[in-house]
Amino acid sequence: MHAESKRSGIEPFHVMDVWKAAAQRRRTHGDVLSLAAGQPSTPAPAPVLAAMRDALDSELFGYTETLGILELREEIARYHRAESGIDVDAEDVVVTTGSSGAFTLLFLAAFDVGDTVVVARPGYPAYRNTLAALGCEVVELDCGPQTRYQPTVAMLDALERPPAGLIVASPANPTGTVIDPDELAALARWCDDHGTLLVSDEIYHGIEFGRGAEFGEPRTSCAWQTSRQSVVVGSVSKYFSMTGWRLGWMLVPEHLTRPLQRLASNMTVCPPSVSQYAAVAAFGEESRAELDAHVERYAANRALLLEGLPQLGITKLAPADGAFYVYADIAHLTDDSVRWCADLLTRTGVALAPGIDFDTARGNHTVRLSFAGATDDIVQALDRLS
Ligand SMILES: Cc1ncc(COP(=O)(O)O)c(C=O)c1O
Repeated sequence: MHAESKRSGIEPFHVMDVWKAAAQRRRTHGDVLSLAAGQPSTPAPAPVLAAMRDALDSELFGYTETLGILELREEIARYHRAESGIDVDAEDVVVTTGSSGAFTLLFLAAFDVGDTVVVARPGYPAYRNTLAALGCEVVELDCGPQTRYQPTVAMLDALERPPAGLIVASPANPTGTVIDPDELAALARWCDDHGTLLVSDEIYHGIEFGRGAEFGEPRTSCAWQTSRQSVVVGSVSKYFSMTGWRLGWMLVPEHLTRPLQRLASNMTVCPPSVSQYAAVAAFGEESRAELDAHVERYAANRALLLEGLPQLGITKLAPADGAFYVYADIAHLTDDSVRWCADLLTRTGVALAPGIDFDTARGNHTVRLSFAGATDDIVQALDRLS
């Protein structure tokens, strides 16, 4: 029998086990309230669905250009110009198969085996695991409440030598925290000065609750406001409520376009064409109004959790600046978050994500609660938790 590769020996997503157990419980009890999934509970906006139906009659849905259809690249560029005031054109945009596809392509295009890439802990596990599968050396920066669970220039200065890459996410998964615009700018300048590629995962942009610096609550900013040498990653999965459509994108410095094109044309040919034609309609006013209404619901759900959890004695919560997560310290309740979540599901039907996916050091003391679902589910979940 042929042996499997060493590179495939990476960690799985442990939260998938929770999803499996929740699906099983749904079949046997029918009472599951899932706060475990990192995705909206709503379909794509109505104009996207209508555009897809129209396209079914008029488009062939063959392969598209590797970097994405021009109409979509133009819409994405327009969106970034409007949201961040940056100077960006369709040629700066590379459309990918989800942001997950963007990360794999980018890591291959920018890093070699043995290169060091720095990520935050806690953080989104796929960065670490994909980089490991590609033979990169991953350095995790221990980020705690003092820095809003985000990396800082001081942490980079303390490294032995400048890394090949730094990945930041703002708003972040699992913490929801946002990097202050001044700090993101400083990180981008540090990376430019040290020959480090800054990868700024901005896929939760559009879902934010911060009121600005005067309230001590940072608002999101875009890495390209400081440096066009960085790579900005976006996706239709979160704000746009289109996870399964598998579309993401990158804003890339010019020198990376051709390597990315070479890799993508070989590895996937192009991102899904049905999704590309439909997603053009995601950026218009009507879609945005529908999506902004979802964000209002997330805000209401967030307020319920931020008020309700402390009443249950769960008081150590990361500042939920954006995204749709509350990351809670439950060290006083368990030192095995996986078992704790499994027990909770068995006893109450409430599914939460254990912290170990996101934090290999302290994740046994933490859980992530997603508030992307219905408000009534949050009310009921809090009641059952109590
Ligand atoms: C921070 C972050 N980046 C990237 C992704 C991947 O998203 P997608 O491939 O659906 O664009 C996720 C998904 O949960 C995420 O939380």
